[in-house]
Amino acid sequence: MTEAPFRIVPATADMLTDIMQLEEACFSAPWTRKMMEAELTGNQFAHVRVAVGCEEGKTAESLIGYHCFWIVFEELRLMNLAVRPSMRRGGIGQALALEAVRIGVGLAASRAVLEVRASNEAAQGLYRKLGFVPISTRRQYYTNPIEDAVIMELVPLVVSVNAQASRVFPTGGGSVSAH
Ligand SMILES: CC(C)(COP(=O)(O)OP(=O)(O)OC[C@H]1O[C@@H](n2cnc3c(N)ncnc32)[C@H](O)[C@@H]1OP(=O)(O)O)[C@@H](O)C(=O)NCCC(=O)NCCS
Repeated sequence: MTEAPFRIVPATADMLTDIMQLEEACFSAPWTRKMMEAELTGNQFAHVRVAVGCEEGKTAESLIGYHCFWIVFEELRLMNLAVRPSMRRGGIGQALALEAVRIGVGLAASRAVLEVRASNEAAQGLYRKLGFVPISTRRQYYTNPIEDAVIMELVPLVVSVNAQASRVFPTGGGSVSAH
């Protein structure tokens, strides 16, 4: 658990190696470097944000989390979200996910969707906290190990935590805020 300060910034191509280190440390079936590079440089729908901060006992900042998401017209698709194990439970994952929702709202997306391993209680807990609800299951969707995917969605797209929604509709004039 950490309460260390961090900031969220857009990823740049020179962060690829650090992002891949985190990807490989956090996922049993990680994306390849080529796939991640395409997200950073070649995919018009992709957005990548990183969390930068100091690990406990260290003075230099490093990459402690990242989030790759797509905004495809009206739909926000949360893809890969990961936080360095030693820095978890400090709100970094939530902040990265909320940033994606904020950007989606800003770009007039009206719905968010994601897939998550059925056994991944941490991620499902995070997404539920933001208002996502499970809508279906894809049988044996994941490999290494083979596992079902739970599909979760957030409709309409709102910035909220703990179901205390600040409802923000893309065409409305409301402000975006997290509680
Ligand atoms: C999922 C992950 C990104 C969460 O990051 P994090 O920075 O630890 O999450 P946060 O501290 O922002 O937690 C936000 C909320 O998520 C839920 N949550 C987070 N970790 C949890 C856990 N281990 N068990 C249950 N709920 C958890 C809680 O509701 C938490 O709110 P709370 O702290 O007020 O209880 C992180 O565990 C991770 O990198 N896991 C490996 C990669 C992964 O599975 N990514 C998701 C793929 S879909």
